[in-house]
Amino acid sequence: MVLGARKAPSRKGSFADMPTDLKSQIDKLEEMFLIPTTKLKEISDQFVAELERGLSQEGGTIPMIPTWCMAFPDGYETGAYLALDMGGTNLRVCEVTLTEEKGEFEIIQSKYRMPEELKTGTAEELWGYVADCLQQFIEYHHENEKLENLPLGFTFSYPVTQDAIDHGVLQRWTKGFDIQGVEGEDVVPQFQKALEERNLPIKLVALVNDTTGTMIASAYTDTDMKVGCIFGTGCNAAYMEECGSIPKLEHLKLDPKLPMAINCEWGAFDNEHKVLPRTTYDVIIDKESPRPGQQSFEKMVAGLYLGEIFRLVLLDLHKGHECTMFEGQDVNKLDKPYSLDAGFLAAIEEDRFENLTDTGDLFQNKLGIVCKKPELELIRRLAELIGTRAARLTACGVSAICRHKKWEKVHVGADGSVFTKYPHFKIRQAQALKEILDWPSKYGKGRGDPIEVLPAEDGSGVGAALIAALTVKRVKQGQLAGIRDCDALLKMVPKEK
Ligand code: BGC
Repeated sequence: MVLGARKAPSRKGSFADMPTDLKSQIDKLEEMFLIPTTKLKEISDQFVAELERGLSQEGGTIPMIPTWCMAFPDGYETGAYLALDMGGTNLRVCEVTLTEEKGEFEIIQSKYRMPEELKTGTAEELWGYVADCLQQFIEYHHENEKLENLPLGFTFSYPVTQDAIDHGVLQRWTKGFDIQGVEGEDVVPQFQKALEERNLPIKLVALVNDTTGTMIASAYTDTDMKVGCIFGTGCNAAYMEECGSIPKLEHLKLDPKLPMAINCEWGAFDNEHKVLPRTTYDVIIDKESPRPGQQSFEKMVAGLYLGEIFRLVLLDLHKGHECTMFEGQDVNKLDKPYSLDAGFLAAIEEDRFENLTDTGDLFQNKLGIVCKKPELELIRRLAELIGTRAARLTACGVSAICRHKKWEKVHVGADGSVFTKYPHFKIRQAQALKEILDWPSKYGKGRGDPIEVLPAEDGSGVGAALIAALTVKRVKQGQLAGIRDCDALLKMVPKEK
């Protein structure tokens, strides 16, 4: 194999020897996926309005869920807490020990695979599996110890309505989950029952969204952190509001100055299709998903969908009559829904070679398709367009929270596979923020911008543990709003190290 030269930073001009049919397809794709500054601003404006509607008494499309996480950590929280994170691929159990030194902690953890069939199984199977993993963790790390009342922060990253921090009614599954018997139910008693059946000495203290965990974990070490975001399989954000600015909580007569973390669930933004520039491919993704009509924004930006959008476009080009994409090739493997993930797109964008050798190999090895050079150029451009659109759209959400709060200078903690692994995501997002917020050019790209999106601390481990610690502390101080099982928490004296 002859390797091409190292790729130049700009690929302009690569389309010079492109057949006109493919070139005109690229033009059409650019038309569909490029989002100019004016449109970004329009989306951001609508986003601000939607966030505010979500907080109002009437409510709106974006759920804007008060989470009853009502404080930032001061860095001096102590004690040992369990943290459980039920993600799409893995289930992680941690024991986090918050130590005496400011902002310091120790962590031990085990990962378990989430079997694919669980995602479409029954509630009993799900909770049974989760409890079995917790049991294994405890037996392994605390063999022969007499334990009682271990406080647990459970990161459950789906939209749940929370009347209290130890309560959460699942509004709907997202991220392709479709488990019977959980939607419309409080997940806490279902989970706690599975623990009791196994005599596990664990008490759920806080049900936590991954975005809230991310915000709190980051704020533990950086007091400028006011927002937590996940750009991963799903996409969402949380931020700290004041109770007095949440009209839908007015009836509770909470101290208006008290902070309240809001889990935005912004994946639901524009479910009414007022402003997002949806393509025919976004429409298909939605229609074929287990919950059509839901999570419109998420379906355009989250890792679960990026590979699928890409696959649908390529298949459409192959099947259409307007161009000769993959002519005469067997596209059987490409025909399988969700066969390409965001990692596949990332690998294309990371191709080291000007002549896209890595991409060619990838198509041949994974899909059995041999690509011609102009096809590789189209593939590369398509990956860039989908990845860039996602990054730019997420900036609309980040800017909207900051504009709603009138924060001109703030840190945003972010986590998730797209944020940490997808090439150029951060820089594209920072560029879009700059365009939306009209920052003068002196701020430059990325670091040093007034609003910086920075890699976060481990939200589903440290964040969940901290939120559990803050909840136990709150009960002990007699602040009982938004905590159901105060008696159990009062008895809880987390083990000090
Ligand atoms: C869920 C959110 C979660 C996000 C990121 C979305 O699908 O609805 O609760 O924060 O994914 O994991």
